[in-house]
Amino acid sequence: MKSYYIFTYGCQMNAADSERLAHQLEEVGYIPTDDEKQADLIILNTCAVRENAELKTYGRIGELKHLKAKNPDLIIAVTGCMAQKNQAEMFKRAPHIDIVLGTHNIQHINEMIADVKRTHRHQINVDMDNTVLPELKAKPNGTFSAWVPIMNGCNKFCTYCIVPHVRGREISRPVELIVSDVMALGSKGFKEITLLGQNVNSYGLDFHDGTDFGTLVHALDGIPGIERIRYMTSHPQDMTPDMIRAIGESSNMVTHLHLPAQSGSNRILKKMNRHYTVEHYKELISCARQYIKDVVLTTDIIVGFPGESNEDFEKTVQLLRDVQYDMAYTFIFSKRSGTPAAIMEDQVPEEVKRVRLQQLMDVQNEISLQINKEMENKVFDIIVEGPSQKDPSMWFGRTSGNKMVLFSQEDSISIGDTVEARIDKAQTWVLYGTVVKKGK
Ligand code: SAH
Ligand code: SF4
Ligand code: F3S
Repeated sequence: MKSYYIFTYGCQMNAADSERLAHQLEEVGYIPTDDEKQADLIILNTCAVRENAELKTYGRIGELKHLKAKNPDLIIAVTGCMAQKNQAEMFKRAPHIDIVLGTHNIQHINEMIADVKRTHRHQINVDMDNTVLPELKAKPNGTFSAWVPIMNGCNKFCTYCIVPHVRGREISRPVELIVSDVMALGSKGFKEITLLGQNVNSYGLDFHDGTDFGTLVHALDGIPGIERIRYMTSHPQDMTPDMIRAIGESSNMVTHLHLPAQSGSNRILKKMNRHYTVEHYKELISCARQYIKDVVLTTDIIVGFPGESNEDFEKTVQLLRDVQYDMAYTFIFSKRSGTPAAIMEDQVPEEVKRVRLQQLMDVQNEISLQINKEMENKVFDIIVEGPSQKDPSMWFGRTSGNKMVLFSQEDSISIGDTVEARIDKAQTWVLYGTVVKKGK
């Protein structure tokens, strides 16, 4: 019996791809192992979105060298966005890698492994075909929650971003296939699914027949067993009031809306090639507050984009204050070679970026805490996820708005149960609660 171990970096897309890799490996008899030191095959499914993601992965690849020295039959494969970006250069930097497999080629993993065994040579396939999206089966990692990719790629080309270069053009999966995947998951006991795409709001536009994300939301409403449908990521350019209304009216779409703003300055948004204004963005937020009851809002922000002045930065701080997000994921601009922003003039000094990041986080943490405090003494439905990493004596679950609630575990509660919890104490990142009702 041969065993495999997959390291997954980056976004949920990669998590979903890892499940597709796992399915294929198990089809030919590989079994999973929890210990990479025992594995006959190690896959690193990588991310290239920021430089530190790449550095971390190269560090890990370096650490695997001694395993290869001990076991020359060990096969090491690098898949995902960094494989697509760096291609054969990966072998130069780390000759102990055996396989480099691009984002459009994971369906070839077993052939590549066979080729390595036969030839004992490096194997690479980074071809991109932007016209087809292979349908691949997955081996879900979870027991009650599953990823459902609805599209691949991105056509937006924000000037800072590597994703369109490494994931290719947008291709949507037909509504019927998504519906049948979700029905199958529902009948197997899955109660939560997450629809995945770089821009879920441009879903279906490539069919040119009027299909859009709203169509999908309607088609997925009421599927037996499916209590919650999450979706990410939304893009302010393609998200329409109609879509927001469809989400608000649906019986199973969650109350969490992640809507990356990236900046609060129109001047910077323009340089980022994000085709919306702060004013338009705020209208969408008002719409979400109107149509999605108790909406929980989160965003992504980049600080230190080339040319970002103090004044631009202050506008971003103001946006956080105006919108009152539940949470913001804040990133320091990272140069990605091959993207226009990497060679723009007026790069912001590292020190300034760090100071701005801290300032933004301080503002947001205060807002998050204040919003969470308003949840105290109220009761929310949570789906139980299991023991908390933060405090293993406690368990945790999530609200529809994706807030994490920690509670003391009782014997009669199992992973995947939906329970009602009262919030006793709120912190910035997490809520402490008591289960007041089991079942729904
Ligand atoms: N498709 C999604 C995001 C994908 S990448 C969207 O458009 O919102 C996730 C986040 O990483 C982005 O929202 C952005 O905030 C951040 N990001 C992307 N490229 C970056 C870069 N070069 N430097 C810093 N952050 C970046
Ligand atoms: Fe990157 Fe922009 Fe596409 Fe998001 S929309 S993946 S940030 S290019
Ligand atoms: Fe990273 Fe690729 Fe996702 S670059 S964020 S793993 S699409």
